[in-house]
Amino acid sequence: MRTIAVIGAGQMGTGIAQTVAAHGMQVMLSDIDLATANGGKAKIETSVTKLVGRGKIEADQAEALLSRITPVGDYAPMEAADLIIEAATEREEIKNTIFERAGKVLGPDAIMASNTSSIPITRMANHSPDPERFIGLHFFNPVPVMGLIEVIPGLATASQTTDRVTGFAEGLGKQVVLSQDEPGFVVNRILLPMINEAVFVLGQSTAGIEDIDKGCRLGLNHPMGPLQLADFVGLDTCLDIIKVLYKTTRDSKYRPAPLLVKYVEAGWLGRKSGRGFYDYSGDAPVPTR
Ligand code: 3HC
Repeated sequence: MRTIAVIGAGQMGTGIAQTVAAHGMQVMLSDIDLATANGGKAKIETSVTKLVGRGKIEADQAEALLSRITPVGDYAPMEAADLIIEAATEREEIKNTIFERAGKVLGPDAIMASNTSSIPITRMANHSPDPERFIGLHFFNPVPVMGLIEVIPGLATASQTTDRVTGFAEGLGKQVVLSQDEPGFVVNRILLPMINEAVFVLGQSTAGIEDIDKGCRLGLNHPMGPLQLADFVGLDTCLDIIKVLYKTTRDSKYRPAPLLVKYVEAGWLGRKSGRGFYDYSGDAPVPTR
């Protein structure tokens, strides 16, 4: 694959664009408008500049990487893409509209993929022009660092599509886990109940934020505690995923923790809003409870 389109220039979309461009492919990056797509490229520039500053990559490599990323204001240029990756907000109606609109320009051999964290692939495939060429491609945050991509074929996905997308993922230096199209796939089905339970533990005052995170860091050897990780992923995204698990399975074990709902209602979404379980306004994060 030579040209990849990424729809959604948020945390995941920019991480995907950076990783793909770092592996020599051309990237079109889009969002609701050109200004937002340009903003996404600016975030990538900041991230890549840090890598140069830390001696991880050379300045000319960074320049070449950035030159391969073109922000676009509409979907028309994506007719040249071999693969369109949707990485928009985790809301099914938003994603479906993207598949319908971008589907109009999808090339005859091109593949359309969703970076959904939990929404059924088989169901979304019906909004794309060809369910045989539609698949789930689930990246992990921070995309340039994390070694895993989940590949999720829907019921109608052709095996050739799965093979091509697996080759693409491996070409990015990632390892692939193939998952059936079940709610939350493999990793989020395990991760989100853990994060949600950590919020119940906090809500019941069993321990404070710092001790919950410390417990999992030191007791389980996780690089981040569950509340710190929730802030990192975004509390709105966490709530969206646990809601999908609850709605699709109707299993009460996935009911969202009331405190998680409250934080999202308050606009305390984690790192991206400056406050979640931690306050990020100072030099170092400070627990808020
Ligand atoms: N691009 C390229 N490299 C980057 C980078 C970027 N944007 N950001 C960081 N790095 C590199 C650094 O250069 C460094 O490389 P080195 O080891 O060669 O020096 C390495 O990544 C680690 O970075 P830092 O030293 O700055 O930070 P830490 O050592 O504190 O690690 C972390 C940060 C990798 C985020 C670590 O805390 C971690 O692994 N946390 C858990 C992350 C996790 O669980 N992610 C999954 C979330 S779930 C998900 O995404 C699914 C979704 O659907 C919800």
